[in-house]
Amino acid sequence: MVELGVNIDHVATLRQARRTYEPDPVWAAAEAELGGADGITVHLREDRRHINDRDVEVLRESVQCKLNLEMSIVPEIVEIVIGTKPDQATVVPERREEITTEGGLDLSHDRDRIAAVVGRLKSVGVFTSAFIDPEEKQVNLAGELGFDAIELHTGEYANACEREAGKQLGRLVRAGALAAQRGLRLHAGHGLNYRNVGPVAAIAGMRELNIGHAIVSRAVFIGLREAVREMKQLMNK
Ligand code: PXP
Repeated sequence: MVELGVNIDHVATLRQARRTYEPDPVWAAAEAELGGADGITVHLREDRRHINDRDVEVLRESVQCKLNLEMSIVPEIVEIVIGTKPDQATVVPERREEITTEGGLDLSHDRDRIAAVVGRLKSVGVFTSAFIDPEEKQVNLAGELGFDAIELHTGEYANACEREAGKQLGRLVRAGALAAQRGLRLHAGHGLNYRNVGPVAAIAGMRELNIGHAIVSRAVFIGLREAVREMKQLMNK
């Protein structure tokens, strides 16, 4: 079975549009779990533009399935993640000006710092994942730096026209095969939706997909519980 991690950052984005208390991402996490989510994913960004410190604290207490924190490697965020001890941490690049995470982390930069963060996370029992582009070099580096898993960035696949999508899928398949050889758990995410998720979920060895925007968008019309249920069904046909 391919697990579904539901990214609920977008619920917090809506709350922050009014700087109020609703909609509460903590409620969203409960609804997602009731719909069959295997994980709840949130990104505590340095600028706290959506998820805030209180959300992370309460989610740690309330989420019963896997809590996956997306994180940069700046010291403040690393300390919060170490203190929170989520089930899983996914190291992602972070630029203030971006609308959402654009592209995977380049593991050839800051290698020593990344390896040190991975070591600290693992020492407190956090499962570690690296959000990377589907490139041989990045998969190999993830293994060398000690990560337990990789999350392949599916943005280029998701944005591709029909002709190009096959080529992008091929990149994901090859990177997935290399991850298996290296003993890395295989995850993927970014830009996946109800139309394009099937081929990615079917990649050999795929274990987890992290999906946010499409699920929260559909939830506006049919409710989060049902939107999660439909996505999980599509992933495991
Ligand atoms: N995985 C990672 C590492 C991400 O940064 C994001 C976006 O926050 C997602 C998955 C989910 O992407 P989307 O919202 O496009 O489904």
